[in-house]
Amino acid sequence: MRPFEGRRILLGVTGGIASYKSAWLARLLSQEGAAVDVVMTRTATEFIAPLTFEALTGRPVHTALLAQGHALDHIKLARQAHAVVVAPATADFCARAAHGRADDLLAAILLATEARVLLVPTMNDHMWAHPQTRLNSEHLREIGYTVLNPEIGALAAGEGSGEGRMPEPETIVAHVARLLEDASFAGRNVVVTAGPTRELVDPVRVLSNRSSGRMGVALAAAAWRRGATVTLIAGPLEVPLPAGPKVVRVETTEEMSAAVNAAVGTADVLVMAAAPADFRAAATASDKIKKGASSPSIQLAPTPDILRESARHMRAGAVRVGFALESHDGLANARHKLESKSLDMIVLNDALEPDAGIGVETNRVTIISRDGSEEQIPLMLKREIADIILDRVRDRMRLEPAAHRR
Ligand code: CTP
Repeated sequence: MRPFEGRRILLGVTGGIASYKSAWLARLLSQEGAAVDVVMTRTATEFIAPLTFEALTGRPVHTALLAQGHALDHIKLARQAHAVVVAPATADFCARAAHGRADDLLAAILLATEARVLLVPTMNDHMWAHPQTRLNSEHLREIGYTVLNPEIGALAAGEGSGEGRMPEPETIVAHVARLLEDASFAGRNVVVTAGPTRELVDPVRVLSNRSSGRMGVALAAAAWRRGATVTLIAGPLEVPLPAGPKVVRVETTEEMSAAVNAAVGTADVLVMAAAPADFRAAATASDKIKKGASSPSIQLAPTPDILRESARHMRAGAVRVGFALESHDGLANARHKLESKSLDMIVLNDALEPDAGIGVETNRVTIISRDGSEEQIPLMLKREIADIILDRVRDRMRLEPAAHRR
């Protein structure tokens, strides 16, 4: 199932040049399964044609408060929406919204809706820096809207660079997903690791593995969507970083270990989805190893077991989740790891199955809990598996208070 299936999202577009990116946003939301109702201000229609949005969403576009025969459009649209997103939101629109004006269809919808609202202010950097604009956005947050800060970067042609850019549509989609999700992890700190690590053999060669980071990234994104504060500690990834979590980039197992130990002290949950390299070269050659007559041999040394060591840095009661990648005797090996690494839960996957485990989009896992229960999950997308794992973590967390609230 697509993430926004059955959801109705009202996309408000106001008159800024960034509205060209709103077309892509409308497309992404539709692709994810949402029914997207686009409402444009009059100025927005001077930047981009309603027809563009109509073609992308397959639905009529709304522009006027009192369109003939549709006097109650704003009430109907406002009531049907599961979430309202205004992107771009100009300085003028933010000012009108902050004052509760209802002088056009979009402003009236904000007053009439009971859905959660996301505003994406986008403007010239001086306009954004103006104290009145800042007051407006603070006020909008106080009255319950989620207001994104604009990004720093290139502004409209001739305006150079500054803080005022609209975030990329993919980032906005992630925020919409957070708006629509239950906030079952609100107030919780979650640390997730993802991807492989890399150990240098010489200045150009590395020891590593085929992990893509997809499972860890899906878990970090899902925990953030549920309202958690998330730290994602990531080795070199093959997939894009998620919007939302704080990201700490590492290269070696030693670096990942240090980053995990530094982050888990205040964590309510640690999910160790990374595949850290278990071995490094006992000595890294300072020069590139040359091809010679004989094959060189590399002496290996063990790296730290991050998960095992992290237990010493975590408070009692925090939920600890590991993964086990096994090619034989999966259940027995996973149960042994659950015990020896002091875990609450271990997610077992098969290293030999072609559509599951490392480096692919899908997985088939068994979730084994400390109480001995075993749950077999059929083959599905890692994104879907992430949600099931977090459901089990949530059930476990209910038994434990939040670490930093003690
Ligand atoms: N792990 C870790 N530090 C390592 C290696 C693994 O924290 N140096 C974590 C993994 O992230 C995973 C769990 O330990 O959550 C089990 O990893 P796995 O590779 O299945 O097992 P290992 O402990 O490395 O043992 P082996 O390779 O012998 O099966």
